[in-house]
Amino acid sequence: MTHNLLKGKRGIITGALDSNSIAWKVAQKAHAEGAIFTLSNAPIALRMGEIKKLADETGSQIIPADATNVEELTALYQQSMDVLGGKIDFVLHSIGMSPNIRKNLPYDALNYDFMVKSLDVSALSLHKMLSVAKKMDAINESGSVVALSYIAAQRAYPFYNDMADAKATLESIVRSFGYHYGKAKKVRVNSVSQSPTRTTAGSGIKGFDDFYNFADSISPLGNASAEDCANYCITLFSDLTKMVTMQNLYHDGGYSTTGVSAEVMEGFKAK
Ligand code: NAI
Repeated sequence: MTHNLLKGKRGIITGALDSNSIAWKVAQKAHAEGAIFTLSNAPIALRMGEIKKLADETGSQIIPADATNVEELTALYQQSMDVLGGKIDFVLHSIGMSPNIRKNLPYDALNYDFMVKSLDVSALSLHKMLSVAKKMDAINESGSVVALSYIAAQRAYPFYNDMADAKATLESIVRSFGYHYGKAKKVRVNSVSQSPTRTTAGSGIKGFDDFYNFADSISPLGNASAEDCANYCITLFSDLTKMVTMQNLYHDGGYSTTGVSAEVMEGFKAK
């Protein structure tokens, strides 16, 4: 069922790599809710070509941009405004990557050049996207920027490695930039802290399947899917949430506020 929640709105959606990507589902839902938008990803990811299918399905133009590169981000906003015919109403930051995770380096023996890259791609890129937009005055009043996060920003998850530090930084940027952009232009900035989700980025985490099952058995509602996450993002892009800003919003089936579940206790029954 659709509600035309984004009718007349223009957006930029980053991070759709393949049909499992959270951003892919957000694009499909945003299209169904009446939005027009551009799709963006790093040039290297675009070479894989999958995103073309999504562009055709949603009638969107693809604009390559490495989210760590300010010039490319400037071009992304300018071209998006040209293609869509005006200022932007919503932006999805759905970007994450850790070379340390890719190379299987443990948290207590990180490669620091890689760590700087993890932070740049996964967190500072949000600051850059916001800073470029603010400088260009590219986002309309009450516009909404949503970034995706994970609860390892607040708690220790050994396998999440330096992405935990990146997510903590990301959420801090949400608050700090949310203040400045809110004051100056009433633009909203929030993060959605999502359940483990089977995507390319998610499955790259060591022991992901066990971890996925653990979270599923803790959460009263079970893990939230990528599609559920997309629905939540749509509400945050819509005017129905126009006073929500600077928040990290858990979208995790109740995981973050559950201490323990009966299912998990079963495994610890006293003999
Ligand atoms: P995904 O692998 O489909 O998406 C990650 C995207 O980041 C890819 O499209 C990739 O090309 C893009 N990217 C990497 N480097 C880039 C760069 N330099 N410039 C522009 N784009 C770049 O995986 P998923 O899971 O959809 O990830 C989206 C977001 O959701 C990430 O921030 C991730 O950390 C977050 N998240 C994922 C969870 C999961 O379990 N899958 C749980 C909680 C949050």
